[in-house]
Amino acid sequence: MAEPSSIDLATEICGIGLDGPVLNGSGTFDALAARKVFGDALIEDFPFDCYVSKTITMNPRPGNPPYRLWETPSGMINSIGLPGPGLEGFLARDLDGLAEFGVPLIVSVMADQVEDFEVLVARVAARDEVAGIELNVSCPNVHSGLIVGEQPSETEALMKALRPITEKPLVVKLTPNVANPHEVAVAAEAGGADAVSMINTVKAAAIDPTVNRAWLGAGAGGLSGPAVRPIALAQVRAVAEAVTIPVIGMGGITDSESALEFILAGARVVAVGTENFRDPRAGNAVKDGLPAALRRRGFASLAEAQSATLG
Ligand code: FUM
Repeated sequence: MAEPSSIDLATEICGIGLDGPVLNGSGTFDALAARKVFGDALIEDFPFDCYVSKTITMNPRPGNPPYRLWETPSGMINSIGLPGPGLEGFLARDLDGLAEFGVPLIVSVMADQVEDFEVLVARVAARDEVAGIELNVSCPNVHSGLIVGEQPSETEALMKALRPITEKPLVVKLTPNVANPHEVAVAAEAGGADAVSMINTVKAAAIDPTVNRAWLGAGAGGLSGPAVRPIALAQVRAVAEAVTIPVIGMGGITDSESALEFILAGARVVAVGTENFRDPRAGNAVKDGLPAALRRRGFASLAEAQSATLG
């Protein structure tokens, strides 16, 4: 029998319709900078089915002191420290441009007090360009004063404070740096989260090869890339089994095969992160390769893989 020429990759995540299941990890692909390089070609063949913004904070932030990156075998450590224009700067300067890419936009936000989270969610959710909001409670590179992402009770309390503010989807970005991420995920769901995304980076450090000090200006950072993929797969599987809300899976995805591994582990959709630094068209490659990857594993559709149970 002739193979079907294509597999429909259309899907959805908490009510947001998508042409396919490939997102970017927040902070791993600067779409506005990329447009300056690639021009309108970037819009015509955008690498992702949904774009997740860099994390926005209430006030402008300079980020952490250099150095901010360290390459490891099969990955990298970052300690960027959430530099950005702050809420007003983002709304005035960046949002219009991000809305031009023609895919749903999820805006990532982070705050060091609940009241600021409330303002960020209210202001961002009020904009028609925004399809959903990701709550970054898991950045290892800022001292936020909140321990939300590490404590189930704090996560649930934050969600209960934010849930009444908007009907737009709220996604909680989970940290891998706890013993039992599924407990935080269950709490996020109990508080009203529409989805969880995971994993953020794994706490890590590098030593300067020439002098006796830490390489990263902030002393330590977060590891990402293929090195963390097995950790991410285990955590995605554990969380997907513990919650009924969808999981956005990421952690070292480099190609369509590794993307499909996350779907099989229980993620509804996936995000490409560190690989974007090596190849800004990595998202296109993951998307383009998915039909063949699905067929190779015997699936006739994305939905079949999404509902498959691992043996
Ligand atoms: O340092 C950073 O900007 C990274 C943020 C994050 O991991 O969420």
